[in-house]
Amino acid sequence: MELNFILNGKPLTLTEVDEETTLLQLLRDRLGLTGAKRGCDTGVCGACSVLVDGRLAKSCRTPLAQVDGHEVTTIEGLRGPDGDLSALQTAFLEYGAVQCGFCTPGMVIAAEALLRRNPHPTRAEIRRGIAGNICRCTGYQQIVDAIEAAAAQRLAQEGEEDG
Ligand code: FES
Ligand code: FES
Repeated sequence: MELNFILNGKPLTLTEVDEETTLLQLLRDRLGLTGAKRGCDTGVCGACSVLVDGRLAKSCRTPLAQVDGHEVTTIEGLRGPDGDLSALQTAFLEYGAVQCGFCTPGMVIAAEALLRRNPHPTRAEIRRGIAGNICRCTGYQQIVDAIEAAAAQRLAQEGEEDG
């Protein structure tokens, strides 16, 4: 099949794509984007999380037909145009929410999806927002702290821009 979609803000056309391929296989094995991790490969752990049209998706369970004509954002696409880490990524670093490279990209993506649909979540809502992402170090406290701080920072920034 031919596949047309927007990947991290850039339109992309790929030919000779096996339609049985999952989005995770395409990203990692053909496009060399290894930020989304292959954990369980069964839709359970969240390590492979990406955004499809801004909504959280487990790329190991996303058939390419669901991506054709849509917009995909991976962890690589969260950086600013000058390559700087986003405020959310920086908050993960500052609050000690990054403990391993395996769950963290998916966790940041889940947090990004949450903050896009709910810019001012409660701690309980944050916990629900990352419920599909497993951290085996059980460092959830720091992760919730980081997301809460990033939300507050985003709101403050928006207030400055409006004012
Ligand atoms: S690798 Fe996709 S949910 Fe675990
Ligand atoms: S920080 Fe990655 S599994 Fe806990």
